[in-house]
Amino acid sequence: MKRTLTFVAALSMALTLSAQVKVSIHETAQDQPVIPAEIYGQFSEHLGKCIYEGIWVGPDSSIPNVDGYRTDVLEALKALKVPVLRWPGGCFADEYHWMDGIGPRENRPKLVNNNWGSTLEDNSFGTHEFLNLCEMLGTEPYISANVGSGTVEEMAKWVEYMTADAGSMAELREKNGRKEPWKVKYLGVGNESWGCGGNMTPEYYSDVYKRYALYARNYSDNQLYKVACGASDYDYNWTKVMMQNARGNMNGLSLHYYTCKGWTGSKGSATQFTTEEYYNTLAKSVEVEEVLKKHFAIMDAYDPQRRVALLLDEWGTWFDVEPGTNPGWLYQQNTMRDAMVAALSLNIFNKYTERLKMANIAQVVNVLQSMILTDGARMVLTPTYHVFRMYNVHQDATYVPAEYSTGSIVSAEGRIMEDFSVSSSRDASGALHVSLANPYLDKSVTVELSFDSLKPKSVSGEILKADRIDRYNEFGKAAAVTPAAYKDAKVSGKKVTMTLPAASVVVLEIK
Ligand code: AHR
Repeated sequence: MKRTLTFVAALSMALTLSAQVKVSIHETAQDQPVIPAEIYGQFSEHLGKCIYEGIWVGPDSSIPNVDGYRTDVLEALKALKVPVLRWPGGCFADEYHWMDGIGPRENRPKLVNNNWGSTLEDNSFGTHEFLNLCEMLGTEPYISANVGSGTVEEMAKWVEYMTADAGSMAELREKNGRKEPWKVKYLGVGNESWGCGGNMTPEYYSDVYKRYALYARNYSDNQLYKVACGASDYDYNWTKVMMQNARGNMNGLSLHYYTCKGWTGSKGSATQFTTEEYYNTLAKSVEVEEVLKKHFAIMDAYDPQRRVALLLDEWGTWFDVEPGTNPGWLYQQNTMRDAMVAALSLNIFNKYTERLKMANIAQVVNVLQSMILTDGARMVLTPTYHVFRMYNVHQDATYVPAEYSTGSIVSAEGRIMEDFSVSSSRDASGALHVSLANPYLDKSVTVELSFDSLKPKSVSGEILKADRIDRYNEFGKAAAVTPAAYKDAKVSGKKVTMTLPAASVVVLEIK
């Protein structure tokens, strides 16, 4: 692939240059994987205002709610088509004792949330509240079980409580108001067991994992999909040891990758950043592709049939908290820059679904790169929400390979990224969807799409862009970043042509 290098030092917002990209869409390619809906997964943790206020306000709240779930958030999540929701953490999971969160709410014990700002957790949102939420959303639950400070028995009984149709755990569940077992597919055995989940070595954890996984039983017709705790970022040794020691005992191995400047010192502001910082952020986010490939290569060596999946069950941007907010609550605003990160990342994830079977952005409401932010009774949808809503056409669609040649952008930190991003898929009705992103702040891109044999009859689409890259949606104000109909794409003979404005995301439907 021929590449032109652009150095960010030479970039200026005042310039309006344009580039040209030709994309060949191979819609006739055979044996392509289906993009699992779970690539568009979400993560919810007892952290800051994610669960309390963000999702759960309780049935007596003055905030409009359905049985305690705030109505505005519920509706927004339904429109998003959330395929899977991970809960209760994160680091919180390894200090969570599920029995504290069942039975009459007024009797539930309170605990100090040691990981996240020492907030008092009243356990009013527990197993019933979470699994009922998943049913209301039509979402697959992903339970993270406590390995760090829990026991095998505690985890085994939790699985039984949720999924068995007979026995003392099922009776207890019925006493608490739920006769029918729930369906629970994904079970994570520990979270970040190398850190907040127990400070373990991979050798030690792989043995612990096998012991826990053994006693996580399938009840009735519920079939668990067991997920072992995986590496963070570039820790390839963790993946190697886990595959060596425990690959036969797991369905999936997790990975966490955050777009974060560094774990010590300032992570930068979510809303105030320079051009240089913008490209640094994007280049760091797309580095996930190299990281995924290296983990896949290790997995391939032990599991060439790809029986064990890689699940990127935490990813997204991580900036400094908003000034004046609790540093332990990880509450950050979300700008058009975050939307670009989401679009570039999702286009990458769509490419690797032969091994990558899930990706959960952190987190769904009020934490890190959220879909939704709330302020008491007020709610805004973030630019990242809009990308996820626009991209949900790829869920369960068949991947369609696209070939193109790009230039490159070299970030000030020395990372090299492609200067254009595209992904396509065909849904069950035969419609072709193409998601495109132009990362340049100062250049529009002329795009020409050609096809193997498709003669396009119509094209329609949506665009997300803002008048400034640091725009975000503010409470009580008209939305500054919201999708609009995209009218610029035209069928021209056997091709589709368009101009992508600077820093924009477009999703097309071609028939
Ligand atoms: O998403 C916030 C935290 O990031 C999670 O609790 C933890 O797993 C990760 O370090």
